[in-house]
Amino acid sequence: MKTERLDKILAAQSTWSRKEVKELVRKGLVTVDGSPAKGADQKVDPDKSCVQVAGRTVPLRIRLYLMMNKPAGVVSASRDDSCPTVVDLVPPELLRQGLFPAGRLDKDTTGMVIITDDGALAHRILSPKSHVPKVYLARLDRPLTPEMAEGFAAGIPLGEEGATLPAKLEPLEETLARVTLREGMYHQIKRMFAVYGAKVVELRRISMGGLALDESLAPGQCRELTPQEVELLQQR
Ligand code: URA
Repeated sequence: MKTERLDKILAAQSTWSRKEVKELVRKGLVTVDGSPAKGADQKVDPDKSCVQVAGRTVPLRIRLYLMMNKPAGVVSASRDDSCPTVVDLVPPELLRQGLFPAGRLDKDTTGMVIITDDGALAHRILSPKSHVPKVYLARLDRPLTPEMAEGFAAGIPLGEEGATLPAKLEPLEETLARVTLREGMYHQIKRMFAVYGAKVVELRRISMGGLALDESLAPGQCRELTPQEVELLQQR
């Protein structure tokens, strides 16, 4: 059993500072397993105890993993001076310090974003060495051509960054393709199609690793990943 001080645990897993937690405890707003907390230094087992603040249960997981259906017009960042970010859209009951999106989608790209405070998992998903597949639906302003699929499979030279890793392009409709990447260069899909004079008019990420976007999430909504889903991301 690994116990920790109540104020340390709560501050690490919420947006309250330790000082604020102490104040909440002093005001009698914090309960542990249904009884008022004895003090901010009370020892709590994060795996077993139920801690509530003002009647609301605070998740005590060591790490948090969220899947969001990113809407257009929101930036993939923790903070931005001029635009709303994906972290701004996380509801208060799931918000905690240190959350960030694992990887960037362009402001106008929609779909799956993993938001976490687990830097190791984010690195794993994003590193080209891990080869974690990221799947997108791309709508173009013109018909797909066989040359595009051949070029994507061979790797497309993108200036100083060199050539992309081989990518899969599967035509779904005349102007709609499923594209699978194993890396994430800046504006990668848009730049790959631009080599063929095509403009991406709509882009949506539909899966990462073995995990598909939960289509029941409305734009801007997020939910926690199940332990099985986290495992899927960790395996890759
Ligand atoms: N490729 C792009 O061009 N934009 C994205 O947001 C993701 C991949």
